[in-house]
Amino acid sequence: MMDKLISLCKRRGFIFPGSEIYGGLANSWDYGPLGTQLKKNIKDEWWKIFVERRSDMYGIDPAIIMNPKVWEVSGHVAEFSDPLVECKSCHSRFRADQLAVEPLNSELSGSTACPTCKNKDFTEAKQFNLLFKTFLGPAEDTKATVYLRGELAQAMFVNYPQIVQTMRPELPFGITAQGKVFRNEITPGNFIFRTREFDLMEFEYFVKPEEWEMGFEYWRGEMKKWLDHLGIDATHIHEVEIPDGERAHYSKRTIDFEYDYPFGQKELYGLAYRTDFDLKKHAEATKSDWGNLPHVIEPTFGVDRSLLVMLLESYHEEDLPADRHGVEGETRVVLKLPKWASPVQVAVLPLSKKEELSSVARKIATDLQKRFRVDYDETQSIGKRYRRQDEIGTPYCITVDFETLTDQAVTIRDRDTMKQKRVKIEEITDHLDK
Ligand code: GAP
Repeated sequence: MMDKLISLCKRRGFIFPGSEIYGGLANSWDYGPLGTQLKKNIKDEWWKIFVERRSDMYGIDPAIIMNPKVWEVSGHVAEFSDPLVECKSCHSRFRADQLAVEPLNSELSGSTACPTCKNKDFTEAKQFNLLFKTFLGPAEDTKATVYLRGELAQAMFVNYPQIVQTMRPELPFGITAQGKVFRNEITPGNFIFRTREFDLMEFEYFVKPEEWEMGFEYWRGEMKKWLDHLGIDATHIHEVEIPDGERAHYSKRTIDFEYDYPFGQKELYGLAYRTDFDLKKHAEATKSDWGNLPHVIEPTFGVDRSLLVMLLESYHEEDLPADRHGVEGETRVVLKLPKWASPVQVAVLPLSKKEELSSVARKIATDLQKRFRVDYDETQSIGKRYRRQDEIGTPYCITVDFETLTDQAVTIRDRDTMKQKRVKIEEITDHLDK
């Protein structure tokens, strides 16, 4: 399944291997035009729902490189790490917690085999810090060392006093951001599931300490509604309570929303109760008085994993009944993406390249562009064009044919049912709106 999806993503311009002309860069991916649009639609929809349509959420766009003290005080320099082991035979490196089936002691037991060479002899597990280091300015020394942000949350915490001062919010309220984060993962892989740079959307929701449980349950419900909005079958999602000892250093309670990927049940999103851990640390370290500190509920949403799961859920292969224009092949591949998310919402397809048809079709496309994301395509057979639009998840195809010139109507084809309907040109927008 993953191979089919990766191939479709490459073939249709969603996602390409990164730096491909130089032989690629392991586990890096570039979003092409359709992938970029889909990702933007997810981020925009999230922002609309969780920021614009609420009056208790404050969006910010913080810097990627922050004062390194932020990461020292937050505990990330000391604690944001995974256990690394190396195979003594082939020197491949792995995350010990992913390799070992049994809980890990200092050394892996002789029963775990190296996935690369099958040898069973590993080095002792060492903690490997995930923060990406770089240098500010020309001097490459420890004084100039800074980190690319490993999560967005810290920017929300260090801007807490500014938000309180400028926006005068009342509890409960949230501070939120979207953007790239960076982690020097030991074992990236599974396409865009685990990469070393990825897009995150998260908010820190500040509540009265005694109301944290209510806040936690509320956001758990809102996250489920969002998953439903993405078109994800609820039976493919599992809420997993993370036990003591396995949670991030700042969390008193965490639920992971895990998804049934083709490569196993793994994390999609997380929901954490961070108490006043971060605010307290930053207030103490800067000797600031921020008054009575609220507690924090943190829902976090990986954008790339959202996109991956939407593609997996929407990918269908269907036996093909011959359609009016005779689509070739016996099965069709179709992405049944939610209509708000599809990179292209309407494709306008004149039956022939002849000027009399294409001029009418171009005019229809230009008019529709004011309301929808529109693709105009007059190359290849109509069957091949339908096939392409199905594969990229376009909900509606509008065919302009020679009858259009006399009846001023077009054929609108529905992606999911493949049913076709004749609609007057002047009624197209109304029809699509409905
Ligand atoms: N501020 C909390 C936080 O960052 P996290 O569980 O470490 O929590 C948040 O990461 C989300 O980011 C995850 O739920 C997942 O969706 C996504 N994510 C984490 N590591 C990732 C990686 N290496 N590649 C792609 N997405 C990742």
